[in-house]
Amino acid sequence: MRVLITGGAGFIGANFVHHTLTHRPDAEVTVLDALTYAGNKASLASVADRITFVHGDITDRDLVDSLVASTDLVVHFAAESHNDNSLANPEPFVLTNLFGTFTLLEAVRKYGVRYHHISTDEVYGDLELDDPAKFTETTRYNPSSPYSSTKAGSDLLVRAWVRSFGIHATISNCSNNYGPYQHVEKFIPRQITNIIDGVRPKLYGDGKNVRDWIHVDDHNAAVWTIIDKGVSGETYLIGANGEQDNKTVIELILELLGKDAGDYDHVTDRPGHDLRYAIDSTRLRTELGWQPRYTSFRDGLADTIAWYQQNEAWWRPQKAETEQKYAVSGGTQ
Ligand code: NAD
Ligand code: DAU
Repeated sequence: MRVLITGGAGFIGANFVHHTLTHRPDAEVTVLDALTYAGNKASLASVADRITFVHGDITDRDLVDSLVASTDLVVHFAAESHNDNSLANPEPFVLTNLFGTFTLLEAVRKYGVRYHHISTDEVYGDLELDDPAKFTETTRYNPSSPYSSTKAGSDLLVRAWVRSFGIHATISNCSNNYGPYQHVEKFIPRQITNIIDGVRPKLYGDGKNVRDWIHVDDHNAAVWTIIDKGVSGETYLIGANGEQDNKTVIELILELLGKDAGDYDHVTDRPGHDLRYAIDSTRLRTELGWQPRYTSFRDGLADTIAWYQQNEAWWRPQKAETEQKYAVSGGTQ
């Protein structure tokens, strides 16, 4: 099978490339990635001779057309993915997440190619902290940030292309991923690398906000399950019952790194900060038979910390620039 993976030099996409080459050794993998600040070819260095890497933009119609014409499957990860960046400058989010998805959809429509769309639980907005409810496939869309609204828009484009043009597509909405190769702008890697650098971790607001953590390998295994067994036109939620509040996560990272659990600072809260995400993945588990492998967040987090300790050469080049960006954007610093 020929597989075109967009955003394959990013966090989840790079892990998906490795997962695919390990579990689907016959797959012919092509990566299309614009290598924005978030893309890192070093994440694919160990498999460079087993893939075709195309440095290009998903908004480039001619390029996308030629790549989609010669593939059997498109798995679309490429996106502007960071909420804080979307508050500072929403424009690339609209271009990549909306126009980029539109460009891919037009190409898969033209060539009748199978398409899987990677999305986020943030399209559903947030839940109250004391609400026992979780997001399901039928929860109403209610995104909060420029990032999540462009992801919601891209999901709706996919649904419209299924209904209006009959494309063969599935959508997955996943909760917060953690694991190797995640950019140091994101919460967990930012705090791990701050502590390694002797800088106190930074908790937005009171730290009561809840995220539903899943290991990136579990996310990617679920994506293949949906590609193999999912029903065309349907949406599947991916989550591993990993709810944790941010304060607990920061304290656990400090503890696992042998520091005092109170050794962090509260900083200005993110504007519009979503309170709580929680996924009900019953449909994926019962209809398609997927189960997460990482059932202990503590163990998965310990593995992730070890990865950042052992791979400083991978993250070090991005660290100072990322912290500089936080410092000039104000607010969430
Ligand atoms: P990331 O920011 O780490 O990687 C994004 C990748 O896309 C980078 O390699 C970047 O160079 C590439 N890219 C950006 N704009 C592009 C363009 N115009 N053309 C081609 N390539 C472009 O993101 P991530 O965290 O790996 O997220 C991947 C996908 O998963 C996104 O669609 C995101 O919305 C979704 N998602 C992420 C999470 C999470 O916790 N990180 C959870 C659920 C869903
Ligand atoms: O839910 C899925 C989403 O998870 C994905 O769609 C996004 O692409 C991904 O970035 C992630 O979004 P979040 O905004 O939840 O992730 P982030 O890592 O930016 O922040 C996680 C939580 O930690 C959030 O409540 C904000 C908080 N935070 C973040 C940073 C960077 C801090 O307290 N301090 C920080 O320094």
